[in-house]
Amino acid sequence: MKTAKLVYGGEEYDLPVFTGSENESAIDISKLREQTGAVAYDPGYGNVGSCRSAITFIDGDKGILRYRGYPIEQLARKACFSEVCHLLIHNHLPDEEEFGLWRRELTLNSFIHEDMLKFFEGFPTKSHPMAILAAMIASLSAYHPEEERGQTIEKNIIRLLAKVKTFAAFSYKKSVGEPFVYPLTRYSYAQNFLRMMFATPAEEYEPPKVLADALNMLLIIHADHEQNCSTSTVRMVGSSRANLFASVSAGVSALWGSLHGGANQAVIEMLERIIDDGGDCKAFVAKVKEKKSRARLMGFGHRVYKNYDPRARLLKKANDDVHRKLGIKDPLLDVALELEEIALNDEYFIERNLYPNVDFYSGILYRAMGIPTDMFTVMFAMGRMPGWIAHWKEQRDTPNSRIHRPRQIYTGTTERKFIPISKRPKSKKG
Ligand code: SDX
Repeated sequence: MKTAKLVYGGEEYDLPVFTGSENESAIDISKLREQTGAVAYDPGYGNVGSCRSAITFIDGDKGILRYRGYPIEQLARKACFSEVCHLLIHNHLPDEEEFGLWRRELTLNSFIHEDMLKFFEGFPTKSHPMAILAAMIASLSAYHPEEERGQTIEKNIIRLLAKVKTFAAFSYKKSVGEPFVYPLTRYSYAQNFLRMMFATPAEEYEPPKVLADALNMLLIIHADHEQNCSTSTVRMVGSSRANLFASVSAGVSALWGSLHGGANQAVIEMLERIIDDGGDCKAFVAKVKEKKSRARLMGFGHRVYKNYDPRARLLKKANDDVHRKLGIKDPLLDVALELEEIALNDEYFIERNLYPNVDFYSGILYRAMGIPTDMFTVMFAMGRMPGWIAHWKEQRDTPNSRIHRPRQIYTGTTERKFIPISKRPKSKKG
């Protein structure tokens, strides 16, 4: 057993070191407080492994991303989203028979209990669809309670994967005041979603292959990303043995933040602002570099990738294909390409290893599909669903997995005596 030596308080401690299947090393500090009385400190957990996981591997320096060993470039170009869901959750690509059953289950379970339709009436028309999605997913626990004794977990996994696209499409239909459209077994996951979004009683909508293929790829590249903020949230909530729906609903809320999945919406708003201000990309980049402006180049930078995010590379190419095939000229794409060109040649971004991440180009592709900006983070959640489920299941299936309970360093007021209000001195204002 390899060890790392810690010298602290005049004592020496040998901390165990172990390596994963890709030769990543970890210093095991799970006994640190017991041995030394001190805790390790790492706000944002940038240097801490919260678990061992066999689902996704990322090498941020080399820009590598693999789901269960398969490189993202191969899956994005050759697989369909529902088989990638099966791969992430069940650790193998399904054979033809398994795939037929799996895909049929996903469509037949896309329907939501008719009583849940009433929930949509309660939301204001312009509700953000992430608020609706988080509420709807948590509410599934009321309709499909998890029985410890039964095998409901496998069934609830299918239900959640299947219904998320229905919640997403229905929240859009509610916002435009159109009737809900139901899925058909003859369509793929991506085709069904586009049809549920854009078909109306007056006019059928046959999803164009180029858009269904682009959506399929978008969902695949969002499907998992190891211990990101929202997946860690799902594991945190699931560690208390909360049910799947409650745990994933928490993940939806974590993803909503503009530093995480909300960034794809923030990128479009940033590009639109640049155009409204006259389209001067150089001036915007100069503002980003002035600390006091607090402006960020949204869609750039990443906690793990210190190289080009492989997903951004795939999305940049997909944007080029879709816009060319559909003959679309989107000024936002031109601005995004110019911003990238400027940033990749600017010392500020180079020395901080800031490259385009998955959110930089995804929104432009959603726009080409006709998906409104406030639906972009919901699209990210739809894609990330299998990843959240796979991590929740991996943790649930791990024997003796412990409830997550980090420690802290207290910096508040030390002990003081309670004074009854009649004797309390006037408090200092401000
Ligand atoms: C996702 O974790 C995942 O895997 C997430 C994700 C997934 O698939 O789940 O990949 C999806 O969330 C992608 C990230 C989407 N968010 C954004 O695009 C928002 C803009 N980016 C950032 O705010 C930032 O880069 C983060 C949040 C992504 C990462 O932040 P870190 O690792 O905490 O880095 P940091 O804030 O400490 O920044 C380090 C330096 C700072 O400058 P200095 O103080 O050293 O001078 O880089 C600067 C930051 O100011 N910086 C940026 C910047 N991002 C970091 N400066 C300008 N523009 C940016 N976008």
